[in-house]
Amino acid sequence: MTFDDSTAFERAATVLSENDRGTYTVPTKGLYPFQWNWDSCLTALGQRHIDEARAWTEIETLAAHQWPDGMIPHIIFHVADDGYFPGPDVWQTGRPVPTSGITQPPVMGFVLRRLYEEAKDKGLAEAKARALIGAADAWHRWFYAARDPEGTGLVALLHPWESGRDNSCDWDAALARVPTDGIEPYQRRDTSHVDAAQRPHKAEYDRYLWLVQRFRGLGWDNAKLHDASPFRVVDPGFNAILIRSDEDIAALGEALGMTGLATAARARVAKARAAFERLWSEVHGQYLCLDRVTGELVESRSVGGLLPLFAGLGTPERQQALAVRIAEWRAATRFGIASHDPADPRFEPKRYWRGPVWLIVNYLVADGLARCGLAEAAEAVHQDSLKLIEGGFAEYYDPVTGQGLGGGNFTWTAAMVAELVRKRAEAVA
Ligand code: GLC
Repeated sequence: MTFDDSTAFERAATVLSENDRGTYTVPTKGLYPFQWNWDSCLTALGQRHIDEARAWTEIETLAAHQWPDGMIPHIIFHVADDGYFPGPDVWQTGRPVPTSGITQPPVMGFVLRRLYEEAKDKGLAEAKARALIGAADAWHRWFYAARDPEGTGLVALLHPWESGRDNSCDWDAALARVPTDGIEPYQRRDTSHVDAAQRPHKAEYDRYLWLVQRFRGLGWDNAKLHDASPFRVVDPGFNAILIRSDEDIAALGEALGMTGLATAARARVAKARAAFERLWSEVHGQYLCLDRVTGELVESRSVGGLLPLFAGLGTPERQQALAVRIAEWRAATRFGIASHDPADPRFEPKRYWRGPVWLIVNYLVADGLARCGLAEAAEAVHQDSLKLIEGGFAEYYDPVTGQGLGGGNFTWTAAMVAELVRKRAEAVA
């Protein structure tokens, strides 16, 4: 079925309202019954077109669960629900409201700036941005202290789930080094909600849990986790998001007259930018992950290596090369942007992050293309996103057939649709 823009917006608003729990929004019923970090931030981008105050609340709720060391966790377990595994009893982080013990891509700084700059209610936006910028800034300082203890300028992920691209081929080699001894017996819940062929294999799940148990054994002390983890991967996508959000924190700080905070954020950006090109691969014509344990680039061409556009990283030649990769991948499938290079034998169009398209990734990459002066390429990506929702507001989509996969009535997919159609209407007006 083809939707016109106003029908698409209405349907998106319905999904957002069905998943709204008052002060936070669940990504989808059943599969993900709590608050997820980057889901919430990106959801606010859609919610603002319906109710700006509600959008600010989404981020306030997340920020309220920041750890004393500055980390903002990847899941907040606001309510008990045994439909999800691993729950609070496995994480055991000892927080007043239980949370997981790892983090997720820091899109908060980016979203705060966008909410602030494009707000209709300027007074509300100023008050909320002032109240929230400190949380984003402290989180970023935590990143460079805890995840870059040697001061290289780039942060490492200690768990595949921190990337937000949980099951990407990018993690295969590093994950293979993670042992599986001593894992407590467990029962997965994801495969009771979604076809197992669209979810990770047991071998990966065992290792995800080994890492959780290892960090738990260290009392979730972030001063110890980095060096103790056998999984330490520098992801270009994640670092690009951090750099972009840091730029946005700097710009927002300047707008609010917080010059000290803005200057410190700009210094972090300068250092990270100087280090970043180490992740470029001339052979693959894109950015790759760096395995901090082996010191080698990881031979895996995923969409994470295209996300540096979001922070305008690289020379114009490199940005152009990334646009060419996107065009090639789009030509090899029917819908872009696949989460992994379709020419790689590991590409699986239906399995979670090893091929499927995600509207939030499309949004971030398209924002980057536009920022790098590649507006036509950005528009092509937006068009794909809007065509995909004909398969429902799914968690992710098969890039070859367009079939909706994973969880249904998915919040951040709906948020992206609300954002895209409203932006399009504003551009025409
Ligand atoms: C999956 C995704 C992750 C997302 C979560 C909730 O775990 O990989 O990025 O935050 O679902 O939607």
